[in-house]
This record gives sequence, C-alpha cells and structure tokens, in this order.
Amino acid sequence: MSTSATRIRKAVFPVAGFGTRFLPATKAQPKEMLPVVDKPLIQYAVEEAYAAGIRDMIFVTGRNKRAIEDHYDTAYELESQLEASGKTALLNIARSVMPDDMTCSYVRQPRMLGLGHAVLCAEHLVGNEPFAVLLADDLMVGPDGGQPVLAQMTEAFGRLGGSLLAVQEVPLAHVKRYGIVAGDAIEEGLVKVSRMVEKPKPEEAPSRLGVAGRYILTPGVFDEIRNQPKGAGGEIQLTDGIAALMKKESVYAYSYKGIRYDCGSKEGFLQASVELALAHPEVGADFREYLKSLKL
Ligand code: G1P
Repeated sequence: MSTSATRIRKAVFPVAGFGTRFLPATKAQPKEMLPVVDKPLIQYAVEEAYAAGIRDMIFVTGRNKRAIEDHYDTAYELESQLEASGKTALLNIARSVMPDDMTCSYVRQPRMLGLGHAVLCAEHLVGNEPFAVLLADDLMVGPDGGQPVLAQMTEAFGRLGGSLLAVQEVPLAHVKRYGIVAGDAIEEGLVKVSRMVEKPKPEEAPSRLGVAGRYILTPGVFDEIRNQPKGAGGEIQLTDGIAALMKKESVYAYSYKGIRYDCGSKEGFLQASVELALAHPEVGADFREYLKSLKL
C-alpha cells in the first residue's frame, strides 16, 4: 500500500446515543458534552484524533445534539465579550476548540439502530479510504510522555495496512460490557483476530481482550455492516460487521499503551474526573491536598 492509502485523514464520532446511564444529566444535553474537569468528553476524543494527524472530523449526530455543533463553531458573543475585556487566555481557550485547519461534518442517524448503523451513516462522507472511529465515552490517556492512543494506532496501521481495534484485558466479570476478540499473537501487543463477539456471557467469552472505543477500519467494513442482520440487543453491531470483514481481510487487535476511562459508566466517569483533576496544572495541587484531608 502506498503512503497516501495508509494515511488516516478522517475520523467518525458516533454521538447520537441517548446516554440513558447518565439521566437526569443527559435529559436535555448530549452525554458527550459532560465535562471531565473543564473539557467535554467529545473534545478529548477530537483532540486525540487531531494529535494523530486527522483534520476531517465527522459527527454522526441525532436530535438534541446541537450543543456539539455549537461547541465546534465560533461563539461570537462570548468571544467578543472576552476580547473587549482583554481576557486573552480565556479567549484562546474558547478559540482553540476549533483549530483553523480542522473541518467538521455532521450527518444524522435518524433512528437508533446500533453502532454499526451509526458508522454506516457516515459512509458517503468517508468514501473509499481507511478511517478512524472514536467513541467519546471512552476517554483515553496515553502513557506519560508518550503518544496518545489513536496516534499509536495510526502508526501501527501504516505498518500493517489492516483494520485495527484497540484492546485491553478486562476482568472476566466485565466481558459482557464489551466486544471481545481472540486470535493468534503475532508480536508483542498485537493479535491477528480470528473471533469477535459482542458482549458475551463470561462462560462464552473467547478471551478477556475487550475492545475499547478506538478503531481504524478499512472501507470494506461498510459493505459488511450493510449485510448484517440485527445482532446483540437487537442492534446492527459494528462488532458483527468487523467479524465479517475478518473473513476477507486481516484485522488486528492492538494492545494500546495508556489508560482508558469508561466514561459511559458512572464509576469510570468519576475515576476520570478524580485522576484528571489530580493531573490538572491549575487545580491539581490543591485538589490533592483536599483529597488527603478527607476521612475515607
Ligand atoms: C461499544 C461496542 C463494543 C465496545 C465498546 C467500547 O459498546 O459495541 O464492542 O467494546 O463500545 O466502549 P457500547 O459501549 O456502545 O455499549
């Protein structure tokens, strides 16, 4: 494959889900706009894609998700107010959300038919090239001083040329929350996938390698998703589309370096909030003292 064919230029963010696990917070606002410390979940994911060299961001949205589009737009009143009052640092924070060289496209997922269906809604915007999928629920933090997770994956994709799924070992009791993959280890941290099951029962799980919400997929996956019947939970599953793709092309599971916070769950969201607050340059030190003062 030539370099241009292996360069990932586009990222798809499926953001149409209702976020029912965070009700009532998500009754009138998108779950992707919930902040961890001071930044919404979606911004962490978009920044990770940007850091991997991606500039075309494609959001698969739904009703009630306008706040995401507004976040990736100019906020005229706010910006002119900050400018007039000379609050340059805050103005820069507001403006840095949408770098000049980034473009955003939006497509609606008109009905909640599953993650596979959401990805398929972006097909005409992706076209015939490999692309990334990022689930903003999973907040990924790269290793200290190392590359963010998606950048690790785009690099591995450049070398391998096949679809890649980010995986981590999960406790047996948690396999029912994730897509689970199994296959042959071909090198340290890399498995050539031969089985993939969506949210299996512990006794049916082929391994404990759980898929985190980062994928690099070849465009062949669109046809496979289109041909899938409804799977787990009555939804058109991305997992089933990838499992079908695997019969025609190599698919790899990549054990990323870093931490994943499952912010689709309250526990994961709270862990991310505490740990990112501790690492935050502005509030970290005081917050650490505060935590030490708690009698737990
Ligand atoms: C989705 C996928 C699942 C994957 C998970 C990662 O599930 O269907 O295979 O392991 O994301 O977060 P969801 O969390 O949308 O239920």
